[in-house]
Amino acid sequence: MRILVISGPNLNLLGRREPETYGSATLEEIEIRLRQKFPSVSFEFFQSNVEGELVNFIQQGMNGSTDGIVLNPGAYAHYSYAIRDAVAALKIPVVEVHLTNVHAREEFRHHSVVAAVCKGVVAGFGPASYELAVRFLAER
Ligand code: DQA
Repeated sequence: MRILVISGPNLNLLGRREPETYGSATLEEIEIRLRQKFPSVSFEFFQSNVEGELVNFIQQGMNGSTDGIVLNPGAYAHYSYAIRDAVAALKIPVVEVHLTNVHAREEFRHHSVVAAVCKGVVAGFGPASYELAVRFLAER
């Protein structure tokens, strides 16, 4: 089973970025933990601060050798129709994840334009949001 784990803008700063909100784990630590917890899954990790690069990578989900995508679009979740359209084009399941409970935060974070074209959304569990999403995809 091959899963792409894609993280959007500012998530490269995890561990240093607003740690009271996003916690102390770095993105690399989250990725290492995923590999440890799911040794039978073949992971590919990608992070970018650039919308078009995220779209390009999401399109790799059409290559026929990918089983699912875990996607944290970061702030793009709230307004990127380009990322939404890239996800909508896929036939494989995409799970949107957020470290934080976006519904308990500022109003502009309450809506995701990407969520409606995803299989489901996991939000609010810190790094475990990623793990829960992988677990769902791996057990399908
Ligand atoms: C986030 C939530 C977004 O609103 C925010 O812009 C992020 C991180 C999360 O993982 O909680 O960059 O996607």
